[in-house]
Amino acid sequence: MGFRIGLGFLVLVSLCCTVKPQCSKSCDALASYYVWQGTNLSFIGDIMNTTDATIVTYNKDSVPNINSVRFGIRVNVPFTCGCINSDFHGQMFEWDVRTGDTYDQIAKIFYSNLTTVEDLEWFNSYDPNNILNNAKVNVTVNCTCGNSTVSEDYGLFITYPLRPEDSLDSIAETEQLDQALLQRYNPGVNFSQGSGFVYIPGKGLSFCC
Ligand SMILES: *[C@@H]1O[C@H](CO)[C@@H](O)[C@H](O)[C@H]1NC(C)=O
Ligand SMILES: *[C@@H]1O[C@H](CO)[C@@H](O)[C@H](O)[C@H]1NC(C)=O
Ligand SMILES: *[C@@H]1O[C@H](CO)[C@@H](O)[C@H](O)[C@H]1NC(C)=O
Ligand SMILES: *[C@@H]1O[C@H](CO)[C@@H](O)[C@H](O)[C@H]1NC(C)=O
Ligand SMILES: *[C@@H]1O[C@H](CO)[C@@H](O)[C@H](O)[C@H]1NC(C)=O
Ligand SMILES: *[C@@H]1O[C@H](CO)[C@@H](O)[C@H](O)[C@H]1NC(C)=O
Ligand SMILES: *[C@@H]1O[C@H](CO)[C@@H](O)[C@H](O)[C@H]1NC(C)=O
Repeated sequence: MGFRIGLGFLVLVSLCCTVKPQCSKSCDALASYYVWQGTNLSFIGDIMNTTDATIVTYNKDSVPNINSVRFGIRVNVPFTCGCINSDFHGQMFEWDVRTGDTYDQIAKIFYSNLTTVEDLEWFNSYDPNNILNNAKVNVTVNCTCGNSTVSEDYGLFITYPLRPEDSLDSIAETEQLDQALLQRYNPGVNFSQGSGFVYIPGKGLSFCC
């Protein structure tokens, strides 16, 4: 009898623990930042906890030097894809609030849609209509370390906010990737939806392995 109960318990434990490990490891990741008019690499570096010089090294083709970033392009910004609340892969950045900042501006302009207003409301205890001056706002950016069911060939992923001009076709073409592979990493996502984000495997970008 005791043996049976013990066995049942073991089965329960193993069931619970095979569902659990959502993010056990961390990895390098990239954020695709759409450069809006009026911003520059030092600003992007500041808010993404890196430097303008580092960003240049990841974007040699499109950004020859720190002063030559053009508005309307995307730059890949490196960050560490860690674990948020032991629950999902992401990184938490800090935004220093200036007078009049709103979650809407922080998500849609300053972080170029790498985060959302909903996430800002979720991860910060402030009254959304009255964020205190000089406060720090938690900004989460989601990421992935891959999915061995899909492929073992990729170890570095770009968190890529979709814009109205994007499609599965255009992204596959630009990134030189197979459309079916891109879709498998983003099951059910409509690449033409104009908002939200997808994960794009980085080709030849990985430093490790
Ligand atoms: C860089 O952009 C930020 C944000 O728009 C701005 O405050 C800052 O003055 C700019 N710096 C330079 C050197 O243009
Ligand atoms: C910012 O970068 C520093 C040095 O690279 C690192 O030690 C720190 O953990 C990073 N902080 C965040 C919030 O990513
Ligand atoms: C972010 O998305 C909104 C629409 O959801 C758009 O109006 C805004 O221009 C986007 N921000 C950037 C920097 O592209
Ligand atoms: C990031 O992932 C978490 C957990 O899946 C989710 O709750 C959150 O809404 C996601 N953030 C964005 C910006 O999609
Ligand atoms: C930001 O996140 C940290 C760690 O999760 C938390 O302790 C802090 O209260 C959050 N800040 C706000 C304003 O909610
Ligand atoms: C990995 O990919 C498979 C097949 O597309 C999918 O069923 C599964 O949910 C994915 N796992 C994660 C953690 O995204
Ligand atoms: C994907 O989204 C676009 C833009 O909203 C829409 O026109 C198209 O019909 C959608 N495709 C599918 C398969 O739902």
